[in-house]
Amino acid sequence: MKIGVISADIASESRVAITPDAVKKLRKLGFEVVIQSGAGQAAYYADEMYQAAGAEIASSSAEVITQSRIITTVNDLPAAAIEHLTTGQIVVGMLDPYRNTQLDAYAAKGATAFAMELLPRTLSRAQNMDVLSSQANLAGYKAVLLAANEYSRPFPMFMTSAGTVKPAKVVILGVGVAGLQAIATAKRLGAVVEASDLRPAAKEQVESLGGKWLDVPMSEEEAQKAKATGGYAWTPSEQYIKDQAAVVDKALSNADIVITTAQIPGRNAPRLVHGATLAKMKAGSVLIDMAAGTGGNVEGSVPNETITTDNGVRIVGAANIPSMLAAQSSDLYANNLVNFITTLIAPAGDDASASDASANLALNLDMEDEIQGALAVTHDSQVRLAKR
Ligand code: NAI
Repeated sequence: MKIGVISADIASESRVAITPDAVKKLRKLGFEVVIQSGAGQAAYYADEMYQAAGAEIASSSAEVITQSRIITTVNDLPAAAIEHLTTGQIVVGMLDPYRNTQLDAYAAKGATAFAMELLPRTLSRAQNMDVLSSQANLAGYKAVLLAANEYSRPFPMFMTSAGTVKPAKVVILGVGVAGLQAIATAKRLGAVVEASDLRPAAKEQVESLGGKWLDVPMSEEEAQKAKATGGYAWTPSEQYIKDQAAVVDKALSNADIVITTAQIPGRNAPRLVHGATLAKMKAGSVLIDMAAGTGGNVEGSVPNETITTDNGVRIVGAANIPSMLAAQSSDLYANNLVNFITTLIAPAGDDASASDASANLALNLDMEDEIQGALAVTHDSQVRLAKR
């Protein structure tokens, strides 16, 4: 059975779905691998490295797709590539399911498309397939370095004969995987860090990393709601949003660096920093909006652009930070995909639903399986994504 690797066709994407190391792992499992020429180039994985690992090279996405049973990708496939899919083929990638306008096309081709973002993350056997965590962790780290690079002062405190340099004040809004890594990185660089999240459980995590928790008052009813969502974001009331804006406004008026990471799966990112607050910020302060690609946490942020406000505040619309660490993010992403693909193979002796004698591997597609069932956005010519 052959696994294909498609090259990302977006200029801002440098990652590749399968690395040479992952090719070796797939070969060990009995798969053959074919990769579109140049697919790994931007992540510093040359065609020759794939060949050395046992992969074949194909000159176009069409060639990869026509040969492969399972097609791996970083992002959604280009429309022209979907045209080449046929019934029974499998696509695995970060398909951005709730914004994806091509799901009908995947279904019409009879392909089973797995969107890795839909993984049930709390399931322990799914954790080594968690692409959101593997990518967000790196992104949180890199966001701090981006901010440090944009900022015209250092992060740590310095005592010099020419005077004392104060440590940078960093505010992190949204303390999930990326936010926690951002706190840890900013602390390591010597900054003073404050952070907030609408999940009260994040307070302890922030404090354990040496950050100060920015508390937003919460009604008893909201506290219950936050508890009931089992650690995931809940829908805040108008009062909470107002109180949060006041807390953010006060914190940002004194901040040097702000990193926003708040996302709501399946919906636009919440607006956490408004124009009125930006107007109070210091000249030279820097905001990194990690949600710029999904609507933006910061008013006025533009994906993949850095803009400077009239009062000298710089807003970096960081739409795809993992791509800036393409070699490492591809390694982790490829590991996540290999772990998932392994679960698509029937255990020895199982009565498999389809088989490919050439590689002696059998596919075990099972929509009742809690991982496969959660990830499959198209199967049996149907779109099966639940509305949010
Ligand atoms: P995310 O990328 O979806 O969002 C980042 C953070 O923004 C989250 O902490 C969220 O609560 C926060 N946020 C959303 N709306 C907000 C608002 N209006 N105001 C303030 N903050 C807001 O989050 P991520 O990193 O994907 O993590 C989401 C949850 O999943 C967390 O509770 C995390 O602990 C949990 N998680 C669980 C895992 C597991 O059980 N293995 C693995 C990874 C994450």
